[in-house]
Amino acid sequence: MMTLKVNGQDHRIDADPDTPLLYVLRDDLKLNAAKFGCGLGQCGACTVLVDGKPVFACVTPIALLAGKKVTTLEGLGTAEEPAPIQRAFMEEQAAQCGYCIPGMMMRAQALLQTNPQASDAEIRKVLEPHLCRCGTHMRILRAIHRAQDLMKTARTGDAR
Ligand code: FES
Ligand code: FES
Repeated sequence: MMTLKVNGQDHRIDADPDTPLLYVLRDDLKLNAAKFGCGLGQCGACTVLVDGKPVFACVTPIALLAGKKVTTLEGLGTAEEPAPIQRAFMEEQAAQCGYCIPGMMMRAQALLQTNPQASDAEIRKVLEPHLCRCGTHMRILRAIHRAQDLMKTARTGDAR
């Protein structure tokens, strides 16, 4: 039995310490934004934040997470009040099938939290661990740039 803090709430989890975080999120906590793609740390579909840093939940055992803060896409905003990164992806219609999108958004969120003015080249580099089989990369990039504008407006009240 261990306590896992997810999206600001403590959860008592009764699972083997080697259980991947992704299984606990999806099966026990019913947080289904993070997706199972490869299960091998090679596609990015399962990406969530641990203490603000992106991790592959499919290869992260819960034993490593005692005392840490896990954030999933559900923890950023809601359908009624989406976070800037979520709003930007919707406004740019960045998803085709959508399977890769939660992971893309979480890594982009982590980047923009630490480097709000990240350049196009920096964004492309940071997103390298993520695969999109639908090929919507250009729309995803546009969405991240739009998120930068939305975040800047929220900070300063000015559009770029
Ligand atoms: S499902 Fe975790 S990296 Fe692919
Ligand atoms: S939108 Fe389908 S995998 Fe990226």
